[in-house]
Amino acid sequence: MHTHFSIQAYDAAKAFIQTRISHQSVTRQPTVGLVLGSGLSSLAESIQDAIHIPYAEIPHFPASTVEGHAGQLVVGQLAGVTVCAMQGRFHFYEGYTPQQITFPVRVMARLGIQTLILTNAAGGLNHSFRAGDLMLIEDHLNLVGMAGNHPLYGPNLAEFGPRFPSMTRTYDLGLARLLLETAAELEIPVQRGVYVMVSGPSFETPAEVRFLRNGGADAVGMSTAPEAIVAHHAGMRVLGISSITNVAVDSVESDADASHAEVLETGQQIVPRLTRLLIGLLGKLAG
Ligand code: HPA
Repeated sequence: MHTHFSIQAYDAAKAFIQTRISHQSVTRQPTVGLVLGSGLSSLAESIQDAIHIPYAEIPHFPASTVEGHAGQLVVGQLAGVTVCAMQGRFHFYEGYTPQQITFPVRVMARLGIQTLILTNAAGGLNHSFRAGDLMLIEDHLNLVGMAGNHPLYGPNLAEFGPRFPSMTRTYDLGLARLLLETAAELEIPVQRGVYVMVSGPSFETPAEVRFLRNGGADAVGMSTAPEAIVAHHAGMRVLGISSITNVAVDSVESDADASHAEVLETGQQIVPRLTRLLIGLLGKLAG
């Protein structure tokens, strides 16, 4: 399951977005990309002087299908920074290829965006995590990619990066430090850990939950790893934040059950805290 885009396809999308932005005199070129995960879409409402660009209008953009994902770019001001936010992202389980999922990230790279903030909803695997926690992603396990559905599969476009990129520091240490600093100042607790991407759309069985935990993961979700890889390949600085929307169920005897409704509801509860944290961080980036 792979598709390939030419550099011309990325640049057609870039040119379309640039034209839309330049029609709004208040909006400057975006410098930070922001991907909003499940239940976190309403964070985009904090963006000022916003212009909205539906994905359906952008050349080569896939259309978003999942509940809780609006499907548009929101370009505007957040804490003195011009951000380009994806209100809704593309998921592997929807049937998109890893190349389609990461198409917008490469378009952001072509727009000159050098910093990418990825957010997602995730299930807590680490025993110390609770629903409602935030987790800084320090590293990831790309199970979908390791199984052959890798976003860099196929001909390499040297305009973005090398054929065999290192992924030792996929998530930028400087941005991570700045986030933890901001969180401490705002007294917002933040966990740290390893995110594992699974395909979905089913939630994990209890045996899978134990397997993933034993494999070194602290949180599990169905996104983010492809975008992080493609952004790092393109030389962008990447920050990843998981909203722990539920605690993954690790026993068949448990009364609990994961549900999309719970993911969206807890995500909504986390939005104000995550918004404050991101505004604090962006303020530091602007300054
Ligand atoms: N598993 C996988 N993806 C998720 C979960 C989960 O428990 N919660 C939110 N996204």
